[in-house]
Amino acid sequence: MSDGMTFTTRTNLSGRTALVTGAAAGIGRATSTILAEQGASHLVLVDLDAEQLGPLQHEIDALGVKATPAAIDAADWGAVQTLVSSIGAIDILVNAAGNIASSPFETLELSEWQATIDSHLKSCFVTARLLAPSMVKREYGRIVNVASIAGKRGGGFLGKTAYAAAKAGVDGLTKVIARELAPHGIRVNAVDPGLTDTRRLIPLRADPEVWRRCLSAVPLGREAQPSEIAGAIVWLASDASSYVTGETMNVDGGVAME
Ligand SMILES: NC(=O)c1ccc[n+]([C@@H]2O[C@H](COP(=O)([O-])OP(=O)(O)OC[C@H]3O[C@@H](n4cnc5c(N)ncnc54)[C@H](O)[C@@H]3O)[C@@H](O)[C@H]2O)c1
Repeated sequence: MSDGMTFTTRTNLSGRTALVTGAAAGIGRATSTILAEQGASHLVLVDLDAEQLGPLQHEIDALGVKATPAAIDAADWGAVQTLVSSIGAIDILVNAAGNIASSPFETLELSEWQATIDSHLKSCFVTARLLAPSMVKREYGRIVNVASIAGKRGGGFLGKTAYAAAKAGVDGLTKVIARELAPHGIRVNAVDPGLTDTRRLIPLRADPEVWRRCLSAVPLGREAQPSEIAGAIVWLASDASSYVTGETMNVDGGVAME
């Protein structure tokens, strides 16, 4: 693009407002920090875990960025609607919320299925659906959903039936919203992480043989740090990725390469 902007200018998020779900831990937390470091002016931090939102709010405040914590369920239409009506326009939506669900198909209960579809897939629909109208009005918006390579590969190191189905749904939802909102200047993408060093890895690390097998499946031979996933999310949320939409980008150390 010949608009004279440098790559650094394009990754700068000065004046942008962002809402991050699953902000209190892991990938969502790392993403919130990088968004603030890149100059975002206001971060709305959504998470079920009210206790962990406090320290994050202080951290973001210390970077000179306004932080608004919201201890709500990202899949709760009424709660998200109330939040959206009180926070003003949002430029960037990052959906990183989600529960942990590992039951195999033959023992999976309907309750775990529903809770998993709700926390991973319904939350992406609810937040995007409620924030899109103001993005459409302003002809500007960036939505990044965090899915998983489990959705592309029939499950992963931890995620089994409900998780993989929900994440495949997130990839599909990403593409359809990307197509429908593209005429309004809104880009929608997904990041599909592989093994990432959050609390989710604790059960895998607990068994050295299981952990060895996990790492042996990763061409780069190691797990990701949350900041490595967050870097891809923030790139997709920035103008540096201005020609990318409808992409479901693996950030997985090479696990799912074709
Ligand atoms: N860690 C990995 O290896 C890995 C791999 C692939 C994909 N992912 C995906 O990345 C995302 C972040 O994972 P993580 O490892 O950082 O997990 P994490 O458990 O460390 O953090 C997830 C956060 O989401 C919050 N949350 C859960 N359900 C919520 C809801 N309904 N509403 C609001 N907040 C909710 C939790 O309270 C928690 O703070 C998830 O969608 C996960 O499926 C993780």
